[in-house]
Formats: sequence, C-alpha cells, structure tokens
Amino acid sequence: MLLKAFLSCLLLTVTSVQAIWPIPDSVSTGNSTLWIGEVLHVTYNGDRIPWIRNYIPPKFTSKEIVKGGVSRAVKNILDDNFVPWKLYRRLALEKTEPNLWKPKTYVSWLEIVQTGKDTAKTFKPLAGDVDESYNLTVSINGKAKITAVSSTGVLRALETFSQLFFQHSQGPIYTNQAPVQISDAPVFEHRGVLLDVSRNYLPLDTVYRVIDAIAWNKMNRLHIHATDSQSWPLEIPALPELHQKGAYAHGKTYSPVAVAAIQTYAVQRGVEVIFEIDSPGHFGVAALSHPELITGWDAQPWSTYCAEPPCGQLQLNNSKVDPFLDTLMSDLLPRVAPYSAYFHTGGDEVNFNEYNLDPTVGTNDSAVVVPLLQDFIDKHHARVRKAGLTPMVWEEIPASYNVSVGKDVVVQSWLGDEAIKSLTAQGHKVISSNYNYWYLDCGRGQWLNFAEGESFEENYPFNDWCYPYKNWRLIYSYDPRAGLTDEEAELVLGGEVGAWAETIDEVNIDGILWPRASAAGEVLWSGRFDASGENRTQIDAAPRLAEFRERLVARGVNAEPVQMTYCTQGGDGNTCLFQ
Ligand SMILES: *[C@@H]1O[C@H](CO)[C@@H](O)[C@H](O)[C@H]1NC(C)=O
Ligand SMILES: *[C@@H]1O[C@H](CO)[C@@H](O)[C@H](O)[C@H]1NC(C)=O
Ligand SMILES: *[C@@H]1O[C@H](CO)[C@@H](O)[C@H](O)[C@H]1NC(C)=O
Ligand SMILES: *[C@@H]1O[C@H](CO)[C@@H](O)[C@H](O)[C@H]1NC(C)=O
Ligand SMILES: *[C@@H]1O[C@H](CO)[C@@H](O)[C@H](O)[C@H]1NC(C)=O
Ligand SMILES: *[C@@H]1O[C@H](CO)[C@@H](O)[C@H](O)[C@H]1NC(C)=O
Repeated sequence: MLLKAFLSCLLLTVTSVQAIWPIPDSVSTGNSTLWIGEVLHVTYNGDRIPWIRNYIPPKFTSKEIVKGGVSRAVKNILDDNFVPWKLYRRLALEKTEPNLWKPKTYVSWLEIVQTGKDTAKTFKPLAGDVDESYNLTVSINGKAKITAVSSTGVLRALETFSQLFFQHSQGPIYTNQAPVQISDAPVFEHRGVLLDVSRNYLPLDTVYRVIDAIAWNKMNRLHIHATDSQSWPLEIPALPELHQKGAYAHGKTYSPVAVAAIQTYAVQRGVEVIFEIDSPGHFGVAALSHPELITGWDAQPWSTYCAEPPCGQLQLNNSKVDPFLDTLMSDLLPRVAPYSAYFHTGGDEVNFNEYNLDPTVGTNDSAVVVPLLQDFIDKHHARVRKAGLTPMVWEEIPASYNVSVGKDVVVQSWLGDEAIKSLTAQGHKVISSNYNYWYLDCGRGQWLNFAEGESFEENYPFNDWCYPYKNWRLIYSYDPRAGLTDEEAELVLGGEVGAWAETIDEVNIDGILWPRASAAGEVLWSGRFDASGENRTQIDAAPRLAEFRERLVARGVNAEPVQMTYCTQGGDGNTCLFQ
C-alpha cells in the first residue's frame, strides 16, 4: 500500500518534468514550487526593460527584439497558459497542484545577459551565422537568469522559460520544477516549414499564426512558395498585371506592405522568411498576363505536360524572358534582401514535354533542353547573387537534369536519401524535405475527381501520390543525416516540413502542421540522438509532445491531439505501448 502510494506519487510528478519541447541539450530540474505574476523585473545587460503586453518592437535592434520576446513570453505564461489536467492521473490534478495557502515565493527577477554582439546578419542569417545557444537558470529563491550569445538565443531561452509554467486550477501561475538549470543549442541550423500560398490563398493572420508556432518550436525558417501555375497572389508593382490577372480574386494578394509585415513579424521572432518564385516550371498562370512568355498553358492531357493542372512553364529560348525576369527580380529582390539571406528559385518538376510545344525550342530532347536550362539557371542565380542573396533550388536542377549550380547554392531535396547522399557527396549544401517523412499534406486522399470507368477502378480507393499519412511518429523517426559520412553530414544544414496546399487553407492548416511539424522541429533542434548517442524514442517524446500540444492550443493554435487522454494521463509513454 505504502509502496503503491509512493509509486503513484512518483508518477504524479514524472510527466511535467523536463517537458520542454524541443528537448534541450541538457536539463536539470527540481520539484520546488515558484509562482509568477505581474511583478517581474527584467533586465537586459543591466538595463531595466519594462515588459508591456503585446509590445511590438519599432525596429530591429537587439534590445527591441529582446523586449518584444520578453513581452510575448510573459503573455504566454500569464494569459495563455493551461491547467494540465490531461497530464496527471484521472481526477488527480488537484493533488499535484501546489497549495495556494502556503507562503509563496515568486519568480520576481529575470536577468538577461547577451554575451555577444548582434550584427546585420543576425536578423537575416545564412545557415551558421547565428549562435542560438543559451543557458537558463531559475533558483528556488525566484531569480531567473538567461545568458545567450545573440538576441536570437535570448528568444529561444525565453520560449524555454515560458514552458516551465502552468496554470493552477484556481487561476494563478506556477512552476513545480525549481531549481532549473538548462544549457541548450540547436543541432541543425535550418529548421523550417514550407507554406504553399498559391494552390490556396492564406490570409495574413494565418501566416502570422504559423510564424508564432514556428518560433515556439524553436524553428527558424518560413519558406513561402509564393506563386505557382494555379494562382499568382504576390503583387509585383513593376508587373502589376501578374496579380491583376493571376490572383484568385481581387484582394487575395500579398502587397509589398503585407510582404514587409510578414518579414518583420518573423524577424522579431527569430524566424527568417524565404520567398520562392518557382521557375521555369510551375509558372503557368503568368500566361493570363504574359501569354507570349509561357509554353503549354493548360495543355491537355495535362498529365503529359505537368504534374497537376493547369500546366505552363516559362519558354526556354525566348529572348523576352530575360528582361521579364530582370524586371520581376529587380522589383522583388530588393524587398527580400533586408530581411533574408536567401531567395528560392524553384526548379522542381520541369516537364520537358512542355518544350515540344514551346515555339522557341520545339523538342523535348534533353540534349537540347538541358543546355538551355543551364543557361536559364546561370542567369537567374546571377540575378539573385547580384541582389546580395544566396540562391536555393529544388534538387531536380542538379540531381535530375544534371544542371550545374554554384557551391553557394542550397539544394532542397524532397526525393529522399539517395539524392541527399549524392548531392552532399558532390559537395552541395542540402536541406531535406524527404516526402516519405516530412510532407504533411500526404495521405489524405486524392483531390482529383475520377469519372466512372477505367481510371475510377484503377485509382480506387483514391489514395494520393504520396500516401500514407505521415504520423508524427514517422516524422520523428527521420534523420536527415542518416547514412552519410561525417563530411557529407556536415553539408546537411537541416530541413523543412512541407504543406502543399491543394486541400489546405486557413481552416485546417493548424491541424495539418501541428503538432506533427513539432516532431520534425525536435529532430532538427535536438537531433535524432541524445547527448549520450541514444536514439530518441516515441515513448520519451509522446508525453512531452502531448504537453506541448496543450500549450499550442492554449496559445491559440488548433493543434491536433497526440493521444487520447487515457494515454496522456498515464504518466509516461509506456501506458499506451504497443504489445
Ligand atoms: C523533491 O526532491 C527532493 C530532492 O531530490 C526529494 O528528496 C524529495 O522527496 C522530492 N519531493 C517530492 C514531493 O517529490
Ligand atoms: C553556458 O554555460 C556553459 C557552462 O558554464 C558555458 O560553457 C557556455 O558558454 C554558456 N553558454 C552561454 C550561451 O552563455
Ligand atoms: C534559340 O534561339 C536562338 C535565337 O532565336 C536560335 O538561334 C537557336 O537556334 C535557338 N536554340 C534552340 C535550341 O532552338
Ligand atoms: C518526347 O516527345 C515525344 C513526342 O514528340 C514523345 O513521344 C516522347 O515520349 C517524349 N519523351 C519523353 C521522355 O516524354
Ligand atoms: C553531368 O554533366 C557533367 C558536366 O557538367 C558531365 O561531366 C557528366 O557526365 C554529366 N552526367 C550525366 C549523368 O549526364
Ligand atoms: C533510430 O530509430 C529509428 C526509429 O525511430 C530507426 O528508424 C533508426 O534506424 C534508428 N537508428 C539507429 C542508428 O538505431
């Protein structure tokens, strides 16, 4: 009986311990209670910084970025917290909560020390430019201290700090984990989410919400696939006809003001936005404004000419394409460069059959097409470099078409392990979005319709091309560096989860991304293996992810449940272990 009581006491305390997502490099926590309230003195390198709810930094200085981070962290702790009844045993929450009537010690000081100086690169980094490491301590007498090299590291530490606290069922906010000592740094430098705003338009507040959740996961990149053959929502003032003819509807566009607002919102949260204008494929809709530049717009049967309707690519040997791209890029890139080190030039799924229809090419023979493609990429990447940016491309450009790209270029792989191996063996920097693991749109069925007959029978029960659905466990099992030599592994900068948007919009994006993208977030921040080289397990991750999911929901993101409450109340990941 006594042993049972002891065991259940142990289980009661076990779930909230170390429940930080993604898991830090090293954590030690105690079991003392501290409360936290409105009175919190915050200093930054010795200066008092008053925290103000919903403070919006007016500029990108280290101090302003930190002030914004502090105010968001405190808001998350005090206003948007949750009562963790799902994490403790059935009807046992109250027994786990600190006594409200005992004398209270408050977390009353938060001392922030930034040991290095930020540079312009801190706010628009190439992979490796920013040291995101931090240390965090909370003593049992209520003093918290953050040290970090960069203001970005301070933001990561503030997120960890905010995850120490819960709401008492009677309202006040507490942690039961003092003293705390955490030392943390990311394993991968590029930790991103890809949003596709062409297949379906996403309103600004949705994009902001995604950026918030990216930052809470300590991810640091938002890749916006801004245009495609289906719609052109990105306003280019020098070529206004692109969105005037190519947007889905009036107003369903991103103006320069909106683009700057997205970029600013992201920088304030330690997230870099990477815009992609896919080319020369996935460019069809520009035929509505510039028919003379496009080949195979809406060509039929579409499956001969593109991966999904409507087809359309830039013509590949048309002398009008270069001046058009010069105009497009000299409008857009100067608006990207203040906030980002990268511009993504696309390059996936270039369908050579489109060039049978191209009056300037007239063949799909790769002996003809590839040199033209090489020329296209060389000129296009030169535009990007001239604007002070580093080009990114999809893997097909070097891996499938054998087009050579500079060693500065970051190649985004989606076809998986062999491609990563061969690209890194050739010395290319790579990020992975392996579709077998990290494409979050997969496995929800076809969006194409099937007329009755042969194709109906063949495609029944209407799976999509990349089924099955990627359960968070599968996402969590993926190591972007698996099977590589040390030298090759060095060149894998990180990865991105993808959310191609044929059947995703602002209504379901939260549940598509979260908490599954969080599983990739932990792989990218904490690594597939822990400090002692152990393969991280679902059994360890599940309770922490379930807890983090509650935080996401409390903060306004409609993340899906990880497990039923019976499992999360079990105390650890073994409660619902497959047998
Ligand atoms: C709290 O931690 C201390 C030190 O590890 C331990 O002796 C004590 O039993 C713990 N108390 C509870 C309630 O778990
Ligand atoms: C964190 O603490 C460790 C050990 O004291 C130290 O080596 C490291 O430089 C500290 N990191 C930061 C960002 O202050
Ligand atoms: C590309 O266009 C140029 C100029 O019109 C022409 O001389 C050349 O033959 C074309 N190349 C191909 C492969 O069609
Ligand atoms: C190239 O185009 C011809 C038609 O002109 C077609 O028969 C052939 O299948 C195409 N090649 C490929 C690889 O699609
Ligand atoms: C790829 O192109 C290079 C020259 O850029 C050439 O040496 C190599 O043989 C080509 N590989 C293939 C598979 O075509
Ligand atoms: C680590 O675990 C995953 C499954 O979560 C497995 O696919 C992988 O092979 C394991 N790696 C090693 C090196 O054990």
